[in-house]
Amino acid sequence: MLQMNSPNQTSVIGFNKPYLTGKELHYIADAHQRGQLAGDGFYTKRCSEWLEQTTGAKKVLLTHSCTAALEMAAMLADIQPGDEVIMPSYTFVSTANAFVLRGGVPVFVDIRADTLNIDETQIEAAITPRTRAIVPVHYAGVACEMDTIMEIANRHDLLVIEDAAQGVMASYKGRALGTIGHLGAYSFHETKNVISGEGGALLVNDPKLVARAEIIREKGTNRSQFFRNQIDKYTWIDIGSSYLPGEIIAAFLWAQLEEAEFITSSRLELWEKYHKAFEHLENDGRLRRPVVPPGCEHNAHMYFLLLKDLDSRTAYIDAMKEDGINCVFHYVPLHSSPAGRKYGRAFGDLAVTNDISDRLVRLPLWVGLDINRSISFKNL
Ligand SMILES: Cc1ncc(COP(=O)(O)O)c(C=O)c1O
Repeated sequence: MLQMNSPNQTSVIGFNKPYLTGKELHYIADAHQRGQLAGDGFYTKRCSEWLEQTTGAKKVLLTHSCTAALEMAAMLADIQPGDEVIMPSYTFVSTANAFVLRGGVPVFVDIRADTLNIDETQIEAAITPRTRAIVPVHYAGVACEMDTIMEIANRHDLLVIEDAAQGVMASYKGRALGTIGHLGAYSFHETKNVISGEGGALLVNDPKLVARAEIIREKGTNRSQFFRNQIDKYTWIDIGSSYLPGEIIAAFLWAQLEEAEFITSSRLELWEKYHKAFEHLENDGRLRRPVVPPGCEHNAHMYFLLLKDLDSRTAYIDAMKEDGINCVFHYVPLHSSPAGRKYGRAFGDLAVTNDISDRLVRLPLWVGLDINRSISFKNL
Protein backbone atom coordinates (compact mmCIF):
# COMPACT_ATOMS: atom_id res chain seq x y z
CA MET A 1 0.00 0.00 0.00
CA LEU A 2 1.26 3.46 -0.88
CA GLN A 3 1.48 5.96 1.96
CA MET A 4 1.78 9.68 1.15
CA ASN A 5 2.38 11.36 4.47
CA SER A 6 4.91 13.99 3.57
CA PRO A 7 5.04 16.37 0.62
CA ASN A 8 8.27 14.93 -0.80
CA GLN A 9 7.35 11.35 -0.33
CA THR A 10 6.30 9.27 -3.30
CA SER A 11 6.45 5.74 -1.94
CA VAL A 12 7.09 3.67 1.12
CA ILE A 13 10.72 2.76 1.77
CA GLY A 14 10.67 -0.94 2.49
CA PHE A 15 12.86 -2.33 5.22
CA ASN A 16 14.41 -4.74 2.72
CA LYS A 17 14.40 -5.00 -1.06
CA PRO A 18 16.13 -8.01 -2.59
CA TYR A 19 18.80 -6.87 -5.05
CA LEU A 20 18.82 -8.59 -8.44
CA THR A 21 21.95 -8.48 -10.58
CA GLY A 22 20.00 -9.04 -13.81
CA LYS A 23 21.75 -12.32 -14.65
CA GLU A 24 19.58 -14.59 -12.48
CA LEU A 25 17.07 -15.57 -15.18
CA HIS A 26 19.82 -16.06 -17.73
CA TYR A 27 21.59 -18.60 -15.54
CA ILE A 28 18.30 -20.27 -14.59
CA ALA A 29 17.47 -20.70 -18.30
CA ASP A 30 20.95 -22.11 -18.83
CA ALA A 31 20.50 -24.57 -15.96
CA HIS A 32 17.25 -25.69 -17.53
CA GLN A 33 18.96 -26.08 -20.90
CA ARG A 34 21.70 -28.22 -19.34
CA GLY A 35 19.05 -30.72 -18.30
CA GLN A 36 20.00 -31.42 -14.68
CA LEU A 37 17.60 -29.77 -12.27
CA ALA A 38 18.38 -31.82 -9.16
CA GLY A 39 21.24 -30.79 -6.90
CA ASP A 40 25.01 -30.95 -7.29
CA GLY A 41 25.05 -30.09 -10.99
CA PHE A 42 26.98 -27.44 -12.94
CA TYR A 43 25.83 -24.36 -10.94
CA THR A 44 26.07 -26.01 -7.52
CA LYS A 45 29.70 -26.88 -8.32
CA ARG A 46 30.39 -23.35 -9.56
CA CYS A 47 28.96 -21.80 -6.41
CA SER A 48 30.67 -24.14 -3.98
CA GLU A 49 34.04 -23.83 -5.72
CA TRP A 50 33.72 -20.03 -5.72
CA LEU A 51 32.88 -20.05 -2.03
CA GLU A 52 35.79 -22.40 -1.27
CA GLN A 53 38.22 -20.18 -3.18
CA THR A 54 36.88 -16.93 -1.77
CA THR A 55 36.64 -18.04 1.86
CA GLY A 56 39.39 -20.63 2.07
CA ALA A 57 36.98 -23.20 3.56
CA LYS A 58 38.15 -26.79 3.10
CA LYS A 59 34.74 -27.82 1.71
CA VAL A 60 31.56 -25.87 1.00
CA LEU A 61 28.25 -27.71 0.62
CA LEU A 62 25.25 -25.73 -0.60
CA THR A 63 22.09 -26.29 1.44
CA HIS A 64 18.46 -25.18 1.33
CA SER A 65 19.07 -22.66 4.10
CA CYS A 66 21.35 -21.72 6.93
CA THR A 67 18.90 -23.58 9.15
CA ALA A 68 19.62 -26.76 7.15
CA ALA A 69 23.38 -26.15 7.44
CA LEU A 70 23.03 -25.79 11.22
CA GLU A 71 20.99 -29.00 11.40
CA MET A 72 23.77 -30.77 9.50
CA ALA A 73 26.30 -29.29 11.91
CA ALA A 74 24.34 -30.64 14.89
CA MET A 75 24.44 -34.12 13.33
CA LEU A 76 28.15 -33.80 12.58
CA ALA A 77 28.76 -32.74 16.17
CA ASP A 78 26.97 -35.95 17.22
CA ILE A 79 24.75 -34.06 19.63
CA GLN A 80 22.99 -36.59 21.88
CA PRO A 81 19.99 -36.00 24.18
CA GLY A 82 21.10 -33.88 27.12
CA ASP A 83 24.27 -32.57 25.46
CA GLU A 84 24.73 -28.86 26.05
CA VAL A 85 25.51 -26.28 23.38
CA ILE A 86 26.64 -22.79 24.37
CA MET A 87 25.21 -19.93 22.31
CA PRO A 88 23.85 -16.41 22.65
CA SER A 89 20.19 -15.85 23.47
CA TYR A 90 20.17 -12.78 21.24
CA THR A 91 19.88 -14.64 17.93
CA PHE A 92 17.50 -16.14 15.41
CA VAL A 93 15.65 -19.33 16.45
CA SER A 94 17.52 -21.63 14.05
CA THR A 95 20.76 -21.25 16.04
CA ALA A 96 19.08 -23.13 18.88
CA ASN A 97 16.45 -25.18 17.08
CA ALA A 98 18.99 -27.16 15.04
CA PHE A 99 20.49 -28.57 18.24
CA VAL A 100 17.19 -29.05 20.05
CA LEU A 101 16.07 -31.29 17.17
CA ARG A 102 18.85 -33.70 18.23
CA GLY A 103 17.90 -33.51 21.92
CA GLY A 104 20.57 -30.93 22.70
CA VAL A 105 20.13 -28.27 25.37
CA PRO A 106 20.96 -24.69 24.37
CA VAL A 107 22.78 -22.88 27.17
CA PHE A 108 22.19 -19.19 26.63
CA VAL A 109 25.07 -16.89 27.47
CA ASP A 110 24.86 -13.09 27.52
CA ILE A 111 26.20 -10.82 24.80
CA ARG A 112 28.79 -8.04 24.82
CA ALA A 113 27.32 -4.56 25.11
CA ASP A 114 29.48 -3.27 22.22
CA THR A 115 29.17 -5.79 19.34
CA LEU A 116 26.08 -7.63 20.66
CA ASN A 117 28.00 -10.86 20.04
CA ILE A 118 28.35 -13.65 22.61
CA ASP A 119 30.39 -12.45 25.58
CA GLU A 120 33.48 -14.62 25.29
CA THR A 121 34.47 -13.85 28.88
CA GLN A 122 31.37 -15.72 30.15
CA ILE A 123 31.73 -18.86 28.01
CA GLU A 124 34.17 -20.80 30.15
CA ALA A 125 32.02 -20.52 33.29
CA ALA A 126 29.04 -21.92 31.34
CA ILE A 127 30.91 -25.12 30.40
CA THR A 128 29.81 -28.32 32.18
CA PRO A 129 30.74 -32.01 31.66
CA ARG A 130 27.75 -32.16 29.22
CA THR A 131 28.99 -29.32 26.98
CA ARG A 132 29.77 -30.44 23.42
CA ALA A 133 29.89 -27.30 21.31
CA ILE A 134 30.01 -23.52 21.20
CA VAL A 135 27.96 -21.67 18.58
CA PRO A 136 29.14 -18.08 18.14
CA VAL A 137 26.75 -15.96 16.05
CA HIS A 138 28.37 -13.14 14.09
CA TYR A 139 25.69 -10.54 14.65
CA ALA A 140 25.26 -8.06 11.79
CA GLY A 141 28.29 -9.58 10.04
CA VAL A 142 30.67 -8.33 12.76
CA ALA A 143 32.91 -11.11 14.03
CA CYS A 144 32.80 -12.60 17.51
CA GLU A 145 36.09 -12.65 19.44
CA MET A 146 37.14 -15.86 17.71
CA ASP A 147 40.71 -16.18 19.03
CA THR A 148 39.43 -16.42 22.60
CA ILE A 149 36.53 -18.69 21.65
CA MET A 150 38.81 -21.11 19.75
CA GLU A 151 41.29 -21.16 22.61
CA ILE A 152 38.55 -22.06 25.13
CA ALA A 153 37.12 -24.69 22.77
CA ASN A 154 40.52 -26.32 22.19
CA ARG A 155 41.24 -26.45 25.90
CA HIS A 156 37.89 -28.13 26.62
CA ASP A 157 37.82 -30.25 23.46
CA LEU A 158 34.61 -28.65 22.15
CA LEU A 159 33.46 -28.15 18.59
CA VAL A 160 32.94 -24.60 17.35
CA ILE A 161 30.11 -24.07 14.89
CA GLU A 162 29.97 -20.51 13.56
CA ASP A 163 26.49 -19.25 12.80
CA ALA A 164 27.66 -16.93 10.03
CA ALA A 165 24.15 -16.55 8.56
CA GLN A 166 24.74 -12.80 8.44
CA GLY A 167 28.47 -13.00 7.76
CA VAL A 168 28.95 -13.71 4.05
CA MET A 169 31.91 -11.62 2.75
CA ALA A 170 32.92 -10.51 6.25
CA SER A 171 36.14 -11.47 8.04
CA TYR A 172 38.00 -11.65 11.35
CA LYS A 173 41.73 -10.87 11.29
CA GLY A 174 41.79 -11.64 7.57
CA ARG A 175 39.88 -14.93 7.82
CA ALA A 176 36.42 -15.28 6.33
CA LEU A 177 33.64 -15.72 8.88
CA GLY A 178 32.51 -19.32 8.90
CA THR A 179 36.03 -20.66 8.28
CA ILE A 180 37.50 -20.24 11.76
CA GLY A 181 35.52 -22.82 13.72
CA HIS A 182 35.25 -26.51 12.83
CA LEU A 183 32.06 -25.76 10.89
CA GLY A 184 30.34 -22.62 9.65
CA ALA A 185 26.88 -21.87 8.28
CA TYR A 186 25.89 -19.19 5.72
CA SER A 187 22.46 -17.93 4.75
CA PHE A 188 21.37 -16.79 1.29
CA HIS A 189 17.83 -15.98 2.42
CA GLU A 190 16.39 -12.98 0.60
CA THR A 191 16.90 -10.80 3.68
CA LYS A 192 20.67 -11.38 3.53
CA ASN A 193 23.29 -9.62 1.40
CA VAL A 194 23.84 -12.32 -1.24
CA ILE A 195 20.66 -14.23 -1.90
CA SER A 196 18.89 -17.10 -3.62
CA GLY A 197 15.45 -16.66 -2.05
CA GLU A 198 15.96 -19.45 0.42
CA GLY A 199 19.47 -20.88 0.52
CA GLY A 200 22.54 -21.55 2.57
CA ALA A 201 25.85 -23.34 2.81
CA LEU A 202 27.74 -25.48 5.27
CA LEU A 203 31.44 -24.67 5.47
CA VAL A 204 33.41 -27.70 6.62
CA ASN A 205 36.79 -26.60 7.90
CA ASP A 206 37.82 -29.72 9.78
CA PRO A 207 38.92 -32.21 7.09
CA LYS A 208 37.82 -35.11 9.33
CA LEU A 209 34.20 -34.00 8.97
CA VAL A 210 34.04 -33.66 5.18
CA ALA A 211 33.12 -37.24 4.23
CA ARG A 212 30.35 -37.49 6.82
CA ALA A 213 28.99 -34.05 5.90
CA GLU A 214 28.50 -35.24 2.30
CA ILE A 215 26.69 -38.35 3.55
CA ILE A 216 24.38 -36.46 5.93
CA ARG A 217 23.48 -34.06 3.11
CA GLU A 218 22.61 -36.95 0.78
CA LYS A 219 19.97 -38.62 3.00
CA GLY A 220 22.57 -40.64 4.91
CA THR A 221 23.86 -42.35 1.76
CA ASN A 222 27.25 -42.40 0.08
CA ARG A 223 25.73 -41.18 -3.20
CA SER A 224 28.29 -38.36 -3.58
CA GLN A 225 31.11 -40.92 -3.68
CA PHE A 226 29.09 -42.99 -6.17
CA PHE A 227 28.73 -39.99 -8.52
CA ARG A 228 32.49 -39.45 -8.32
CA ASN A 229 32.95 -43.12 -9.36
CA GLN A 230 34.69 -43.86 -6.06
CA ILE A 231 32.30 -46.78 -5.33
CA ASP A 232 30.19 -48.94 -7.66
CA LYS A 233 26.87 -48.73 -5.79
CA TYR A 234 25.49 -46.46 -3.12
CA THR A 235 23.66 -47.35 0.06
CA TRP A 236 22.33 -46.07 3.40
CA ILE A 237 25.19 -45.81 5.86
CA ASP A 238 24.35 -43.04 8.39
CA ILE A 239 21.63 -40.65 9.53
CA GLY A 240 20.94 -37.75 7.20
CA SER A 241 18.32 -35.89 5.27
CA SER A 242 17.79 -34.10 1.96
CA TYR A 243 19.69 -30.85 2.25
CA LEU A 244 20.72 -30.21 -1.39
CA PRO A 245 19.21 -27.24 -3.19
CA GLY A 246 18.23 -27.85 -6.83
CA GLU A 247 20.15 -26.37 -9.75
CA ILE A 248 17.62 -23.54 -10.27
CA ILE A 249 18.47 -22.13 -6.86
CA ALA A 250 22.19 -22.59 -7.47
CA ALA A 251 21.92 -20.83 -10.86
CA PHE A 252 20.24 -17.85 -9.15
CA LEU A 253 22.92 -17.85 -6.47
CA TRP A 254 25.69 -17.88 -9.08
CA ALA A 255 24.40 -14.59 -10.52
CA GLN A 256 24.63 -13.13 -7.02
CA LEU A 257 28.06 -14.50 -6.13
CA GLU A 258 29.47 -12.97 -9.31
CA GLU A 259 28.40 -9.59 -7.90
CA ALA A 260 29.18 -10.30 -4.24
CA GLU A 261 31.98 -7.69 -4.11
CA PHE A 262 29.76 -5.01 -5.64
CA ILE A 263 26.85 -5.86 -3.34
CA THR A 264 29.10 -5.67 -0.28
CA SER A 265 30.79 -2.40 -1.25
CA SER A 266 27.45 -0.78 -2.12
CA ARG A 267 26.02 -1.77 1.26
CA LEU A 268 29.15 -0.55 3.05
CA GLU A 269 28.74 2.87 1.41
CA LEU A 270 25.17 3.13 2.71
CA TRP A 271 26.23 1.89 6.15
CA GLU A 272 28.94 4.57 6.35
CA LYS A 273 26.41 7.25 5.41
CA TYR A 274 24.08 6.18 8.22
CA HIS A 275 27.02 6.00 10.59
CA LYS A 276 28.13 9.56 9.82
CA ALA A 277 24.60 10.91 9.93
CA PHE A 278 23.95 9.64 13.46
CA GLU A 279 27.37 10.52 14.88
CA HIS A 280 26.31 13.83 16.44
CA LEU A 281 23.39 12.15 18.23
CA GLU A 282 25.74 9.57 19.71
CA ASN A 283 28.09 12.37 20.77
CA ASP A 284 25.13 14.03 22.50
CA GLY A 285 24.39 10.77 24.36
CA ARG A 286 20.99 10.35 22.65
CA LEU A 287 21.62 6.97 21.04
CA ARG A 288 24.33 4.44 20.36
CA ARG A 289 25.64 3.36 16.97
CA PRO A 290 27.07 -0.08 16.00
CA VAL A 291 30.64 -0.88 17.08
CA VAL A 292 33.07 -2.68 14.78
CA PRO A 293 36.22 -3.74 16.69
CA PRO A 294 39.65 -3.57 15.04
CA GLY A 295 40.41 -6.68 13.01
CA CYS A 296 36.76 -7.14 12.00
CA GLU A 297 35.86 -6.39 8.41
CA HIS A 298 32.09 -6.37 8.37
CA ASN A 299 29.76 -6.68 5.39
CA ALA A 300 27.17 -4.01 6.23
CA HIS A 301 24.54 -6.66 6.74
CA MET A 302 22.55 -4.28 8.90
CA TYR A 303 22.48 -0.82 10.34
CA PHE A 304 20.91 -0.45 13.77
CA LEU A 305 20.57 2.14 16.49
CA LEU A 306 20.29 1.58 20.22
CA LEU A 307 17.81 4.04 21.66
CA LYS A 308 17.20 4.99 25.29
CA ASP A 309 14.41 2.55 26.08
CA LEU A 310 11.42 0.68 24.68
CA ASP A 311 9.23 3.80 24.56
CA SER A 312 11.86 5.75 22.58
CA ARG A 313 12.14 2.89 20.14
CA THR A 314 8.38 2.65 19.66
CA ALA A 315 8.18 6.42 19.16
CA TYR A 316 10.98 6.32 16.55
CA ILE A 317 9.49 3.39 14.62
CA ASP A 318 6.08 5.14 14.61
CA ALA A 319 7.57 8.42 13.42
CA MET A 320 9.43 6.63 10.64
CA LYS A 321 6.28 4.78 9.62
CA GLU A 322 4.40 8.07 9.34
CA ASP A 323 7.07 9.20 6.90
CA GLY A 324 6.78 5.97 4.94
CA ILE A 325 10.02 4.42 6.19
CA ASN A 326 9.78 0.87 7.51
CA CYS A 327 12.07 0.11 10.43
CA VAL A 328 11.99 -3.14 12.37
CA PHE A 329 13.33 -4.61 15.59
CA HIS A 330 14.41 -8.06 16.75
CA TYR A 331 15.00 -10.47 18.60
CA VAL A 332 12.75 -11.77 21.34
CA PRO A 333 15.64 -13.27 23.36
CA LEU A 334 15.52 -17.04 23.03
CA HIS A 335 15.87 -17.66 26.78
CA SER A 336 12.59 -15.83 27.35
CA SER A 337 10.67 -17.39 24.42
CA PRO A 338 8.28 -20.30 25.15
CA ALA A 339 10.44 -22.88 23.34
CA GLY A 340 13.66 -21.44 24.73
CA ARG A 341 12.35 -21.83 28.27
CA LYS A 342 11.22 -25.39 27.53
CA TYR A 343 14.31 -26.67 25.76
CA GLY A 344 17.15 -24.41 26.88
CA ARG A 345 18.67 -22.92 29.96
CA ALA A 346 19.85 -19.40 30.73
CA PHE A 347 23.35 -18.92 32.07
CA GLY A 348 23.35 -15.95 34.46
CA ASP A 349 20.92 -13.06 34.28
CA LEU A 350 21.47 -12.15 30.59
CA ALA A 351 21.18 -8.51 31.57
CA VAL A 352 22.68 -7.09 28.37
CA THR A 353 20.49 -9.30 26.17
CA ASN A 354 17.31 -8.24 27.99
CA ASP A 355 18.26 -4.59 27.85
CA ILE A 356 19.36 -4.51 24.19
CA SER A 357 16.39 -6.36 22.79
CA ASP A 358 14.04 -3.57 23.96
CA ARG A 359 16.13 -0.76 22.51
CA LEU A 360 17.44 -1.90 19.14
CA VAL A 361 15.94 -0.63 15.89
CA ARG A 362 17.09 -1.67 12.42
CA LEU A 363 17.01 0.83 9.56
CA PRO A 364 16.37 -0.01 5.89
CA LEU A 365 19.57 -1.11 4.12
CA TRP A 366 19.56 -2.44 0.59
CA VAL A 367 21.38 -1.83 -2.67
CA GLY A 368 19.62 1.01 -4.48
CA LEU A 369 18.17 2.59 -1.30
CA ASP A 370 17.80 6.38 -1.45
CA ILE A 371 19.56 6.90 1.85
CA ASN A 372 18.84 10.61 2.01
CA ARG A 373 15.17 9.73 2.33
CA SER A 374 15.66 7.06 4.98
CA ILE A 375 17.82 9.06 7.41
CA SER A 376 15.52 10.71 9.93
CA PHE A 377 16.18 12.27 13.32
CA LYS A 378 12.50 12.57 14.26
CA ASN A 379 11.77 11.73 17.90
CA LEU A 380 15.45 11.04 18.59
C1 LIG B 1 21.79 -15.66 13.04
C2 LIG B 1 20.93 -16.44 12.09
N1 LIG B 1 21.01 -17.79 12.10
C3 LIG B 1 20.28 -18.54 11.26
C4 LIG B 1 19.41 -17.96 10.36
C5 LIG B 1 18.59 -18.84 9.47
O1 LIG B 1 18.87 -18.61 8.12
P1 LIG B 1 17.96 -19.28 6.99
O2 LIG B 1 16.76 -18.41 6.83
O3 LIG B 1 18.84 -19.28 5.76
O4 LIG B 1 17.63 -20.66 7.43
C6 LIG B 1 19.29 -16.57 10.32
C7 LIG B 1 18.35 -15.92 9.39
O5 LIG B 1 17.82 -14.87 9.63
C8 LIG B 1 20.08 -15.78 11.20
O6 LIG B 1 20.02 -14.45 11.19
